[in-house]
Amino acid sequence: MEESPRVLMPGDDTVSLAKERPLRLEIGTGKGNFIIEQAIRHPEAFFVGMERQASALVYAVKKAEAMQEPPENLRFFYGDAEQLEQYFPEGSIETIYLNFSDPWPKKRHEGRRLPGRRYLQRFHGLLIPEGRIEFKTDNRELFDYALVELPEAGFETLDVTFDLHNDPELSRGNIMTEYERKFAAEGVPICKYTAKKKQ
Ligand SMILES: C[S@@+](CC[C@H](N)C(=O)[O-])C[C@H]1O[C@@H](n2cnc3c(N)ncnc32)[C@H](O)[C@@H]1O
Repeated sequence: MEESPRVLMPGDDTVSLAKERPLRLEIGTGKGNFIIEQAIRHPEAFFVGMERQASALVYAVKKAEAMQEPPENLRFFYGDAEQLEQYFPEGSIETIYLNFSDPWPKKRHEGRRLPGRRYLQRFHGLLIPEGRIEFKTDNRELFDYALVELPEAGFETLDVTFDLHNDPELSRGNIMTEYERKFAAEGVPICKYTAKKKQ
């Protein structure tokens, strides 16, 4: 990974970098369209995109750097969700975005599913008390499973749709990811939930 002021290193103080703004993290940011656009639209928050595939992350970083005015409230990190605690202290993140996360359909790989209980329990610790998770997927089976996992890990569902792009209320302000654009062009319905920590 090339050095860039836009790429975080382990031990960087993300909380200070955020300058008292809410911290919002996308896990598996891919080529970065979603998180870059979020940062542009929401200067009142601080955004981090993490990705473990170097080629995708390099693409995202270059895309941000090629902008005339790259958003100052955006950073990336190259790494696996397993390393989250090296970058974020407990109770520091306001929103975690999971967009088109890998389904890991085999039972023996269940622990690798980002919207599964093992990760959700870790997210619970990293999120602030009012913290939220937003999950989008084209995979209905994974989505149904993910909805069942939420209460098991201490979250309650706020909004659910099984067809985001045809939901007039929940599609308002939606930012499409690269995968989402592809599925939308094929007419595949997109599922989305927003969940928050149970008090
Ligand atoms: C199906 S792609 C979706 C990419 C992007 N979010 C989108 O919607 O266009 C899933 C991405 O998540 C990344 N990913 C999967 N598991 C991860 C993990 N444990 N830590 C970091 N990134 C991960 C993959 O490398 C891949 O780029």
